[in-house]
Amino acid sequence: MQVSLNEVNSTDNVIDCDIKDINLADAGKKRILWADNDMPVLKQVRERFLKEKPFEGMKMSLCLHVTAETANLARTLKAGGADLLLCASNPLSTQDDVSASLVKDFGIRVYAIKGEDNDTYYKHLQAAVEFAPVITMDDGADLIAEFHTKYPELAKNVIASMEETTTGVIRLKALEKENKLKVPIIAVNDAATKHLFDNRYGTGQSTLDGIIRATDILLAGKTVVTAGYGWCGRGFAMRANGMGANVIVTEVDRVKALEAAMDGFRVMPMSEAAKIGDLFCTLTGDIHVIRNEHFKVMKSGAIVCNSGHFDVELDLAGLKTIIKEIKKDVRNFVDEYIFDDGRSIFVLAEGRLVNLSAAEGHPASVMDMSFATQALAAEYGVKQKGNLRSKVYYVPDDIENTVAELKLQSMGITIDDLTPEQEKYLSSWDVGT
Ligand code: ADE
Repeated sequence: MQVSLNEVNSTDNVIDCDIKDINLADAGKKRILWADNDMPVLKQVRERFLKEKPFEGMKMSLCLHVTAETANLARTLKAGGADLLLCASNPLSTQDDVSASLVKDFGIRVYAIKGEDNDTYYKHLQAAVEFAPVITMDDGADLIAEFHTKYPELAKNVIASMEETTTGVIRLKALEKENKLKVPIIAVNDAATKHLFDNRYGTGQSTLDGIIRATDILLAGKTVVTAGYGWCGRGFAMRANGMGANVIVTEVDRVKALEAAMDGFRVMPMSEAAKIGDLFCTLTGDIHVIRNEHFKVMKSGAIVCNSGHFDVELDLAGLKTIIKEIKKDVRNFVDEYIFDDGRSIFVLAEGRLVNLSAAEGHPASVMDMSFATQALAAEYGVKQKGNLRSKVYYVPDDIENTVAELKLQSMGITIDDLTPEQEKYLSSWDVGT
């Protein structure tokens, strides 16, 4: 059931929201607190923010996947004094129990319902823009795109906007290149403390998790085709390989293709891989990576899914024109596409992010680093108020070092320091052969 824009009593006051069901709050709270156990870096940031209040009285709109981990980020920003609104960055990724708890237990405005249609998704984005935030966070750049296309006046208030994902950074750099960017962006995705861990180990594990929850297939012995060998593709290929799959990589980038080959994977064009794969997963950020010329030659029973940000990587509209019928939900998150000759292809999660649709997204431990980086980047943005131009900035090194240091500490790992002799050597040029 969809609830229209309404007001729900929270513990402290009346909160505007549009969520599925406030009665799911107890289950959501348990999951938020469970995730928090594995987010020690973010917890330390939260404790400091509680004392220092870097965002006191500032309005913030977050357009992120509404998960237990995001809830802990929202709690952290609220602890820092922010007045928050959270909307979904994908129609299928919302955890409805988490939304309910955020409203009821943590007093945060949430506009997100799992499975919301396109109109509702955009109505929620509109609420996030009309809230007139001074700080924003995006996962895929839909929120910032909304400011640019429909609310340029409100864009002027934005001190800084953080971007969480590769696809979003690509869109924002395109906007910058066309000289149309109206707000300062901090590319959190490009921080090493984000993409080396979240994109690689997070996507690697959560994508397999989504595929297994949706299908319950055995990976061992399967031919798994990974489209794309960026950090997400690398993580997925590595983990599928670890579970005994024969992994094939498809790529368009020469260097990445070579890297995949030297990492031990078979590399070939999709036209060849399509004929032999049992399971296909796209992680490219590009459009129509698997299309009719590929669907037509797949084995009957092939499973196809996407773990890239947008649902454009599989050309499902094209597929619909060459099949006889679709059987929806043959299992949760599995649709069967049946051809005239009786062959079937199984498509997971309607081609949307399989890890967030059919599973719970990346585990908390890895989101700990991404979201600590987000929170610290937001604090940096506020401190730099007036100094940032409408450009895409990288996360400062000291934030990356702080996050890495705190994560190592939380894992009980200590490392060496340079000796004075080593430090001197590394800053000299005169000692050679
Ligand atoms: N992106 C991938 N996994 C996520 C998670 N668990 N929470 C928020 N955003 C995510």
